[in-house]
Amino acid sequence: MKERLRTLRIYPALLALGGVVVAFSSAWAGEDAGMSLLNNRCASCHNLRGPAPSSIHALWARKAPDLFYAGNKFRRKWLISWLQKPVRIRPAGEFYADHIKPGPKRDMVDESTLKPHLALSAADAKLAADALMKLRAHDDLIAKEQVPEGTISTSMGSLVFDKFLGCMACHRIRKDFGGLSGPELYTAGERLKPRFMASYIRSPQAWDPKIWMPNKHVSDTRIIQLVHYLQALSKGGSHE
Ligand code: HEC
Ligand code: HEC
Repeated sequence: MKERLRTLRIYPALLALGGVVVAFSSAWAGEDAGMSLLNNRCASCHNLRGPAPSSIHALWARKAPDLFYAGNKFRRKWLISWLQKPVRIRPAGEFYADHIKPGPKRDMVDESTLKPHLALSAADAKLAADALMKLRAHDDLIAKEQVPEGTISTSMGSLVFDKFLGCMACHRIRKDFGGLSGPELYTAGERLKPRFMASYIRSPQAWDPKIWMPNKHVSDTRIIQLVHYLQALSKGGSHE
């Protein structure tokens, strides 16, 4: 009788403990599942651990953009939808010079050399996005930026972007309009966090030491104007 009473008293405590163990291990398994998805299906092309290439040769040999600071760079919502339905960001892929051919007037993208990006199911896209958002090697650079909300007219913005600073030589601001050697920027506002854009414009080499985007020593005022312009281009919100 005494034995039974004791068992009855211990039982609920054991049940509660069991619950905690189950909750803990499934949270752990969730994290593992996201990271192992990245390791199994993405790491053959993407660098998930850093550091960035330290020589021009390594940069040119890079198969895909680095993702080890994905959590500093991307907006989660964009990641989830892009991973299910990827569309081209770099008009000539990675590395761009391997995918262009001479055209009648100027260089053209050699489409035959580019393959579509793999697409994930909705559930895997969410798992991958959550794991990517945890990769934040450059919290230090993000902490240096402040981007107040605001707007700029697209005519003023394009004056700064194109005429004053020459950014369009490498970046498209509309489909089929702009340079081929950098990522298109007409969806940058949806894709990228505002403080990442500011930091990258301030110092591309702080993120990627050998990248060919020049540091134009853009002033704080101009950096904010450029971020607002890119947000206006993609009609994305200015929230992170
Ligand atoms: C066969 C190589 C390859 C594999 C495998 C691959 N990717 Fe990519 N990924 C690329 C290339 C190339 C690009 C650049 C595409 C572009 O700019 O249009 C890219 C672009 C991206 C981008 C946008 C990066 C940026 O800086 O603009 C994300 C996010 C991404 N991939 C995530 C993933 C995830 C998650 C996986 C695994 C589920 C994966 N990729 C697997 C080659 C690959
Ligand atoms: C000589 C070519 C070149 C010029 C000029 C240039 N960029 Fe870039 N830009 C690049 C390259 C290359 C990248 C990074 C590509 C990558 O990560 O794959 C980049 C990346 C960016 C990014 C991050 C985009 C992303 O998806 O990773 C932003 C924002 C940006 N540039 C804005 C600008 C602005 C604003 C200017 C003008 C002040 C400018 N760029 C001038 C080549 C250029």
